[in-house]
Amino acid sequence: MSLALIARSEARTEARLDLASAVMREVPSGERNLIVQLLARTFVDTYAHSAAAGSPAQLVDWVDRMCDAHADTPAVTKLFRGACRSLDDFFAAQGVAERERKPLRSVEDSLREVLQKPRTTRAAAREHVDEVDAAVSGMLARLEGADPLTAEHSRSVSSWCGRLARRLSLSEKETTYVARAGMIHDVGKVTTPPSILQAPRKLTEAEWVTMREHTTYGEQIILEDERLGEFSLIVRAHHERIDGHGYPDGRERDEVPLAARIVTVADCFNAMIGRRPYRPAMAPSDALAQLQLHTGSQFDPEIVAAMHEVVLQR
Ligand SMILES: [Fe+2]
Ligand SMILES: [Fe+2]
Repeated sequence: MSLALIARSEARTEARLDLASAVMREVPSGERNLIVQLLARTFVDTYAHSAAAGSPAQLVDWVDRMCDAHADTPAVTKLFRGACRSLDDFFAAQGVAERERKPLRSVEDSLREVLQKPRTTRAAAREHVDEVDAAVSGMLARLEGADPLTAEHSRSVSSWCGRLARRLSLSEKETTYVARAGMIHDVGKVTTPPSILQAPRKLTEAEWVTMREHTTYGEQIILEDERLGEFSLIVRAHHERIDGHGYPDGRERDEVPLAARIVTVADCFNAMIGRRPYRPAMAPSDALAQLQLHTGSQFDPEIVAAMHEVVLQR
């Protein structure tokens, strides 16, 4: 049997099973569970397909995906680490010429790179999620202590952000990220004097200057907690406008991260439909009309459209 034969689909099942057994011997016997057995067989099949297609990348991609999916099973890495070598030994024992076995070496080099990539185990991912959740809750508690109304607003903004993200077909992970960003977007307001935050009137220009600083103070507060570092830019940028006339940096269009553009729409909508000491709550339809009025200048049109759909449940 040669490499060319095993690469062809008519290669006998027994031959592939022999190869899979050779591959599996790389794993200590106590760790050869069902997953390892299945992956050893699939490795041989995938190797055969990728060799037949002349595309080693197929095999390397597959191994990469399997390493991610089975990050919790160290035996899987052991299996792949020795897989090419065991195939090579197997074919050598069958008398397959060195020249014909050469392609296996280059695949082995690519696999070695893939196997060195750090993987996140499910336990580590869960732990990270818990840590971020705890940090977000901590920030919200600080806000609650400083200004309960802002904390309530933040919870609502977070909920709108989640609905917007889903409507925009973002992944589950991205949706969680945007919802968390909504929860902590105004954390910088813990530094804003209550006399300004709770002023029962429109603010003076000087007071507005102080009020606007909640974006940059917010960023600093977020950066003090390494668990929340990935949110710092969103907190800083949630009052930017896509026409570049927002603050604090005057970023425009795509310079404003998508998550910040989502938070902006959710934030403004929620502020409008909420009661303020100096004005009554606006009807949701009027708030939507206001978003529409400023779409393309203050707001991202796609997100405003999504907000219409979310609110009108279309
Ligand atoms: Fe804000
Ligand atoms: Fe806000």
